[in-house]
Amino acid sequence: MIGKCLFPVAGSGTRFLPATKSMPKEMLPIVNKPLVQYGVEEAIEAGMTNCALVTGRGKRAIADHFDISYELEHQIAGSSKEDYLSGIRDVIDRGVFTMVRQRAMLGLGHAILTGEPLIGDQPFGVVLSDDLCLNPDGPSVLAQMAALYEEYQCSIVAVQEVSKEEVDQYGVVAGTTERDGLTRVSEMVEKPSPEAAPSNLAVIGRYILTPDIFDIIRNTPPGKNGEVQLTDALQTQAQEGRVLAYQFKGLRFDCGSVPGFVDATQYVFDHYYGQPE
Ligand code: UTP
Repeated sequence: MIGKCLFPVAGSGTRFLPATKSMPKEMLPIVNKPLVQYGVEEAIEAGMTNCALVTGRGKRAIADHFDISYELEHQIAGSSKEDYLSGIRDVIDRGVFTMVRQRAMLGLGHAILTGEPLIGDQPFGVVLSDDLCLNPDGPSVLAQMAALYEEYQCSIVAVQEVSKEEVDQYGVVAGTTERDGLTRVSEMVEKPSPEAAPSNLAVIGRYILTPDIFDIIRNTPPGKNGEVQLTDALQTQAQEGRVLAYQFKGLRFDCGSVPGFVDATQYVFDHYYGQPE
């Protein structure tokens, strides 16, 4: 079983300035819960209770969020307001949180390599918490992928179909059908132009990676935008037939963009707010 999950949370979140000037974008709340907490809850549900956060400058609030706040606890102890803290208390009780800092933002591939000391030589999940994934009718997206890993024992990327005009915002995959909703990837391209895209299957922020990815990233030169791209490293595994693309069951909101963030807020308010956890 996969026990660890990596959270690259070092990005600058420029699309949310000025909100993200002194606050990490992963702490932006969808209704009353920060984005990163949704991601951590998803990982814990998938059995990945060991949460490794790759943070950066100005991201201390994330570390504080997954720790007890004694002053606050003391202040509201015994009052009805304690209920507001029960969700995060449960997360803190069930999870183990480790952190490492990415000193320079050199790309997602580099962020993942920075997390190597926290992961070690074992398969692991990756959650980009600005992608909010919800599956109200069944297991979380990461839990679906963890079950698939038990069967296939190789790297898995979550994908969804996007319009031709949107492919240049994503890593895009192509390959052969393994079974319904599952593609054995042979080609991966980071942010291709619509003309150059091999398909409209876009990678979203959920991955299961095998630990050889670290050595591959070490040997991957900077790619698109001068950043070390995870997509380029995964392409090396894909050429050996060791990457699956999984069309997950559930919803995904791109909360790294303002429209996606607003859609997610509306959805969570309509479907979850005020419901028992
Ligand atoms: P994004 O491409 O969304 O970049 O990163 P960003 O900086 O967070 O946001 P914008 O584009 O400036 O608004 C995708 C994911 O990879 C992480 C980010 O935190 C985000 O979860 N990341 C990216 C890192 O942790 N380190 C990096 O060097 C780059």
